[in-house]
Amino acid sequence: MTTPTPGRLRPRRTRRTPAMRRLTAQTRLHPADLVLPLFVREGLDAPRPITSMPGVQQHTRDSLRREATRAAEAGLGGVMLFGVPAHRDALGTGATDPDGVLNVAIADVVAEVGDALVVQADLCLDEFTDHGHCGVLTPQGVVDNDATLERYAAMALAQAEAGAHLLGLSGMMDGQTAAVRDALDTAGHHEVAVLAYAAKYASAFYGPFREAVESQLDGDRRTYQMDPANRREAAREVATDIAEGADVVMVKPAMSYLDVLADVAATATVPVWAYQVSGEYAMIEAASAQGWIGRRGAVTESVLSIRRAGADAVLTYWATELAGWLAEER
Ligand code: PBG
Repeated sequence: MTTPTPGRLRPRRTRRTPAMRRLTAQTRLHPADLVLPLFVREGLDAPRPITSMPGVQQHTRDSLRREATRAAEAGLGGVMLFGVPAHRDALGTGATDPDGVLNVAIADVVAEVGDALVVQADLCLDEFTDHGHCGVLTPQGVVDNDATLERYAAMALAQAEAGAHLLGLSGMMDGQTAAVRDALDTAGHHEVAVLAYAAKYASAFYGPFREAVESQLDGDRRTYQMDPANRREAAREVATDIAEGADVVMVKPAMSYLDVLADVAATATVPVWAYQVSGEYAMIEAASAQGWIGRRGAVTESVLSIRRAGADAVLTYWATELAGWLAEER
């Protein structure tokens, strides 16, 4: 009996040398396709580590500016800012106060690096409400969709006036993209772009983020964020947001939703981004810290897989570090 040979078809040929692998790579990572999420905490004297996100901190106004400068020097596409207020209330008034922590941070970062980076702000009420929900509540304690839209419209104006280039609508209220777009346009802010977190799932992988923003939430967000069981519904959310004027749509989380991301990337008529969320970060950091997986390889592969599935850009807490590795490899 003779051993069969593969004949003409030998896929290993294109894997033989580093140069051949580089030339035949279908997906590439570039710093410009990465966005760094950053947290700024009101009233801090020094940056404060976030235990469940080793290497990530709540920033002071000064350390936020420095981190944004590092992001710009690394050639990142942008930063996404999240504010953690010292005081909260039922309506999340800190979100619409021009002196509120997030609006001040937007102005700081725009003044510091506004020509080099797309400065983006989270547009959602959960960091600012004392009940931790993404909107305002009815007397019965249900998130009131249409009353929340009025708060989002006001928040959009505050962020636009602070100088934000792009607003990240992460609240998952029906009609939020239209409400914000109309409010911006009526006030003459035609230039401010809207990123709709179109397909955002009610995910356990947001756990560490809740520590990062000192979330007051008791319960869950399943009446407004999507059910992880649903794939088709993402297409509806994306189509709705694009019809309402979204300039970019997002899928979130990323790694457990690569099927959704691939669907959206195949049909969307605007850029598609994905958010590699806090729990995805924490899992890889925790396993690497144990020595169970190689950190740099796992981080690189995870972001590459999100790009391969169809994300044009990726929000990731590793953005600056990863950009450094990419520069080293060239
Ligand atoms: C809402 C918001 C959340 C995240 C980003 N924007 C939290 C939530 O929906 O519960 C999570 C991001 C992450 O986990 O890294 N403001």
